[in-house]
Amino acid sequence: MTHRPIRIAPSILSADFSRLGEEVRALDAAGADYFHVDIMDGHFVPNISFGPMVMASIRTLTTKTFDVHLMIAPVDPYIAAFAKAGADSITVHAEAGPHLQRSLQAIKAEGKRAGVAINPGTPLSAVEHILDDIDLLLVMSINPGFGGQTFIPHAMEKIRQAKALLGNRPIDLEVDGGVTADNARELAQAGINVFVAGTAILGGNDTTTYASRIAAIRTAASTVTA
Ligand code: DX5
Ligand code: ZN
Repeated sequence: MTHRPIRIAPSILSADFSRLGEEVRALDAAGADYFHVDIMDGHFVPNISFGPMVMASIRTLTTKTFDVHLMIAPVDPYIAAFAKAGADSITVHAEAGPHLQRSLQAIKAEGKRAGVAINPGTPLSAVEHILDDIDLLLVMSINPGFGGQTFIPHAMEKIRQAKALLGNRPIDLEVDGGVTADNARELAQAGINVFVAGTAILGGNDTTTYASRIAAIRTAASTVTA
C-alpha cells in the first residue's frame, strides 16, 4: 500500500493565546507543515475555542495549509465562513449531523479539501459510503474537546483498519489526540500520514523548542517506509 507524504500539524489550541501571532510565526519557522485549527462550540464538545474572525487574523501570518477541524453542530451554516477565513481543508464530524454527505458537498462547493472526523466510539462503517467524497479521514484518538489527553490505545487498531479501508485512494489519514514522538512511529506504520500534535509541540509554549519537537515527530514517523 502506498504511503502519502508525512505532514506534521501543530494544534493552535495549545498556543498561548495572549501572543497567538508570535506562536504562529514560530511554528511556521520551526517547520510545521500544516496548522491544525480546532473550532469548538461548547455544544458538540464541552469546550469553546474561537471562531472565523480569529482564524482570519492569523491566516495573514503564514502561507502554510490551514487544516480546520470543526467540532461544532450544526456545522453546515458555518462552512462558508471558515472557507472565507482561509481554510485549505475543512473537516466535519460524522457525528455532528444527519446529513454528512451534504456537508461534504458544501465544503467542495467552496473549493476546499473535505475531511471527515470520527470519534473513538464511532465505527469506521460511518465513512464507508462517503469515501468518494473525502480527501482526508481524521481518526480521533481522544474524545474531542481538550488538548493534553492521553492517546486511547484502541485507536491504533482502528487506524490500521482505516488504512485498509482507504486502500490506495488518494485520501490523507490523520490522527488527533495524544500524539507524541514516542507513538508516531507506530502510527505511521499503521497508516497515518498527517500527525496533529498540540501538547507534544506547544506544551510549555517555549518557541525555542518547537523546531526540535516537530523534527522528533517527523523523524519517528519517517522511519517507516511502506
Ligand atoms: C482536541 C483537539 C486536538 C487537540 C490535540 O479536541 O481536536 O487537536 O489540540 O491536543 P493534544 O495533541 O495535546 O492531544
Ligand atoms: Zn483537532
